[in-house]
Amino acid sequence: NWTMEEFIGKEIARIREVCGPKGRVIGAVSGGVDSSVAAKLMHEAIGERFHAIMVDNGVLRLNEAQQVNEMLNKDLGVNLTVVDASELFLSRLAGVEDPEQKRKIIGNTFINVFEEQATKIEAEAEKEEELAASTEKKGKIEWLLQGTLYPDVIESISFKGPSATIKTHHNVGGLLKDMKLKLIEPLRELFKDEVRALGRLLGIPEPLVQRHPFPGPGLAIRILGPVTREQVKILQQADNIYIEEIRNAGLYNQISQAFAVLLPIKAVGVMGDKRTYEQVIALRAVQSEDFMTADWFVFPADVLRRISSRITNEVAGINRVTYDISSKPPATVEWL
Ligand code: XMP
Repeated sequence: NWTMEEFIGKEIARIREVCGPKGRVIGAVSGGVDSSVAAKLMHEAIGERFHAIMVDNGVLRLNEAQQVNEMLNKDLGVNLTVVDASELFLSRLAGVEDPEQKRKIIGNTFINVFEEQATKIEAEAEKEEELAASTEKKGKIEWLLQGTLYPDVIESISFKGPSATIKTHHNVGGLLKDMKLKLIEPLRELFKDEVRALGRLLGIPEPLVQRHPFPGPGLAIRILGPVTREQVKILQQADNIYIEEIRNAGLYNQISQAFAVLLPIKAVGVMGDKRTYEQVIALRAVQSEDFMTADWFVFPADVLRRISSRITNEVAGINRVTYDISSKPPATVEWL
């Protein structure tokens, strides 16, 4: 039996020992709970020798890169670089409809961008040393931080057969093969609720601690059909209104995950005395313990009415909103 305070002390000591007095660590942050808590813990342990990298893949939620930058960099003091690679991601995604293909492209491109950034950080550190002509040598980047949780560890051990992998999740281990970095996983013994408790103790703001999970491939798997900048913009706006109204209604923490999906079909509508022919948004909200099964969330009707009215009025290109009433199984949480 242990307390979270003891865990923090022990884990910080372990990180310091493992990294040595000069060793440096890089890690990707997504804006989610796990990577943010892991990053803050690393910062507590080794300060500026931890470099966080956030890759803007062009399929993040509205203003997400800026918000994560504000929160981690300014509020939490983590040494963070945000790389805008949206052009590269969107160009590689052009014309792709198959969801697994989208995942593969995003996963691979992420690794390319991340590696390039890591190399840059290493080169800059070397240049600084030369300029300072200091005897105080900076260590090499030797470690890669991953915010792996205990359930991920279990899943990656037991989910070996292709039949068990319905969708390819690339959270565990993927990066490691390509970069010759050693893995550091400070959260690998924790469950989600423990990570949240840890986050609170580390001073991470409540909205971030309670954040719904967001998939690595982002909005690309919530845009059915090809991903374009225009489609991303429509979905970002609709999703933002949806989450804003869920928060206003005080329902965010009762829901495990909520998001909008952009359907690749057009439906007829009416505006003034004109027919419109525009796209459809599907709203999804589920309650779930572990996302292996999930129930759709029962909204008060007035909340749905407000969300629908705002989306159809404020988002150009959308004239119809539907609510997804499918449970998992047989549906999955995501549409792709
Ligand atoms: P499904 O759709 O499989 O989703 O019922 C279960 C949970 O997993 C998330 N999910 C993903 N997360 N990369 C991720 O990082 C992915 O490719 C991916 N696909 C699904 C989903 O958001 C839900 O929380």
